[in-house]
Amino acid sequence: MIEISRKNLMDLFQITAGGYEPIHKFMGSGDIESVLKYSMLDTGETWTIPITLNVPEIPYIRAGETVCLHYSGSHVADMEVEEILHIDKGVYVLAIYATDSPDHPGVMDTMRESAKCITGKISRIKFPDFLNMNPDPHETKRVFRELGWRTIAAFQTRNPPHRAHEFMQRRAMETVDGLFINPVTGDLKNDDFSGTEIMKAYSYFISKYYPSWKVFLSPLMIAMRYAGPRAAVFLAQIRKNYGCTHFIVGRDMAGVGKYYDPYAAQKAIEEAGIGIELIKFQEVFFCRMCSETVDSRSCAHDEIYRTVLSMSSIRNSLKLGMFPPRQSMRRDVAEKLIEELATQKNSDIL
Ligand code: ADX
Repeated sequence: MIEISRKNLMDLFQITAGGYEPIHKFMGSGDIESVLKYSMLDTGETWTIPITLNVPEIPYIRAGETVCLHYSGSHVADMEVEEILHIDKGVYVLAIYATDSPDHPGVMDTMRESAKCITGKISRIKFPDFLNMNPDPHETKRVFRELGWRTIAAFQTRNPPHRAHEFMQRRAMETVDGLFINPVTGDLKNDDFSGTEIMKAYSYFISKYYPSWKVFLSPLMIAMRYAGPRAAVFLAQIRKNYGCTHFIVGRDMAGVGKYYDPYAAQKAIEEAGIGIELIKFQEVFFCRMCSETVDSRSCAHDEIYRTVLSMSSIRNSLKLGMFPPRQSMRRDVAEKLIEELATQKNSDIL
């Protein structure tokens, strides 16, 4: 019996649900090496993030054996082991995150995981309810069909709604049949908002401000990789698998700190040619001279007039029960988040 991590469990869900097409099992050494070197699977298809099943360094797993995979003490699947391999973490982090800094959350995550991985045929799958409750690609495609949407723009985020999100989403809604807001809620770094906070704030925001017939909200239960351009390609491919025709991408998607060029994600998705149309934005901010939220392409004024949106300062204000500038986040959305953060804090104390 092998206890697997939450990240690996969520990956297993996506593999079996079709969210990670064309991947049908955890990767073996051939695919991993090819992804690291060429951002491609062994077959030549585009793929940028290794999907590995990391297992403890126990000696008794052998190729050809069937092992039981458990999560939180319950059986979730069996695997007929085909290959046992070890990842070279030094090579891995430089290829995927373009850094080996231990301050990078993705590097930290890789360093914590076991280097030993297994792959093989999966059977007898039984996912816990928290995964089964989320729509898979079959369900989202059915919903889009029922709503009569033919063009669907996916909005990737790991944050609650703020003014830059709103600016991009409204512009996208003007050009496509429907907007699929699909926040990553599976595993986020400690100083991000939690999946619950993001989903509650988005549900409230959509019900208050958006036409319900144009928007579909659902969580994407995967671990956020924070790998900038590589993560952006991965996230765009998943949304294509979920039935989206367009993908909204602004500044510094899936990045952290200053590790990636702010527009590297846009360039990487374009170059990957994965068959999803991009709706691109540059830096979105509030300009006091224009008196509105704008994209840098349409504003002539000097930087000193800008209220640039910083998610970490919004988060810090909200945690202290203080409101961020109205130009960054709507007051009522901020109120909801302050309430939610206070509830969580109280339940942590109890
Ligand atoms: S993440 O998944 O990309 O890390 P985040 O909430 O930060 O989540 O961003 C969601 C989307 O909004 C991405 O397309 C990102 O590029 C875009 N975005 C966020 N803030 C801005 C901004 N101020 N200007 C332009 N694009 C932004």
